[in-house]
Amino acid sequence: MAIQLVSTAAQLRAESARLLTQKGGTSQGLVPTMGALHEGHARLARTAVGQNDVVVASIFVNPLQFGEAVDLERYPRTLEADMALLDAEGVDLVFAPSADEVYPGGEPVVRITAGPLGGKWEGASRPGHFDGALTVVAKLLHFGMPGTGLSGGGGLPAYRAYFGQKDAQQLALVKRMVEDLNFPVEIVPVPIVRSEEGLALSSRNRFLSAEEREAALVLSRALLLVEARANAHVPLDLESAQALVESQPLVELDYFDVVDPRTLEPLAENCKDTPFRGEGLAIIAARVGPVRLIDNVPLDS
Ligand code: PAF
Repeated sequence: MAIQLVSTAAQLRAESARLLTQKGGTSQGLVPTMGALHEGHARLARTAVGQNDVVVASIFVNPLQFGEAVDLERYPRTLEADMALLDAEGVDLVFAPSADEVYPGGEPVVRITAGPLGGKWEGASRPGHFDGALTVVAKLLHFGMPGTGLSGGGGLPAYRAYFGQKDAQQLALVKRMVEDLNFPVEIVPVPIVRSEEGLALSSRNRFLSAEEREAALVLSRALLLVEARANAHVPLDLESAQALVESQPLVELDYFDVVDPRTLEPLAENCKDTPFRGEGLAIIAARVGPVRLIDNVPLDS
C-alpha cells in the first residue's frame, strides 16, 4: 500500500484508526523526525515497521528547539526525498504538520522542562533546547497515539515510539519524561548508523567539506579506543583518547567523557586507574567547521 501524507492531527487520527481497523492491527509505532532523512532514520522506520501493524512517521522542524533563527531557517527541508525513503521502508503514514497545526495559539505558554538533566552536556551550549524538544515530543506522542478498541478486541493497541541512540541525551530525557509523567508509550532506542569510515550519520553532515568530513572521523576513533579498552578490561585512559581528538586542528572539542546512560553523570573519574566495570556511555561533542557534531558508544563491561 502506498504511503500517505497528512498534515492535520484530525486526519492523522482518522487515517491511523482506519488503517488499524483495516489491518486488524493491535499495535502502532511512531517515528518522530525533523526530516532531512538518512540511513539512520531508515533504521528507525525499519525497526518500527518490523514491530508494529501501523507505522506513522512525523516530519516537523520544531522552532522551539532551535536557539538561533538562522539555524531554523537553514535546516534542510527535503519532503519529497523523505517520503520516498519512508515509503521504501514500509511506513504507512507521514504526518507533516504546519507550525500553526502544532502550536495553534503561537508558542505554548506551558512547556515541559527537562530539569537538571537538560542543562548539562548538549544543554550547556544550547540553552532551552531540551525543553523545546521535550515539549514537541510530548505533543507528537499525543498526536500519534492509537485510538481505543480499534482491532475489535476491545483492548488498547500497543503504542511504541522510536528514538535514535545518537542523540543520547534526548533519548535519556524522553525516557525520563515518559516514566515521570506516565505517558502510555514504550520508548524504543535504535542504534547509531555510521558511514563505512565510522562517522555517525547526521542531517548536519551535509554541511561538512570533504576535508572536514575526514577530520570528523577522529570522534568515532576516540570513542572506539575507549570501547576497546573497556572490552579489554584495562583502565579507559580518556586522556590519550582526548589527545587524539585535540591533535586534529579542524576539530574543536567541547566534551569527552564516560557517563551513566540514565543519569548522564560522569563515571570516568571512578575508573581512571582501574578497569571499567558495568554499564556506561562514552560521549563526545565537537565543532567541525560549520557544524557541531555529537557521537557516543555504549560500554558494557
Ligand atoms: O531528534 C529529532 O529529530 C528531534 O529532536 C525530534 C525528536 C523529532 C523532536 O523535534
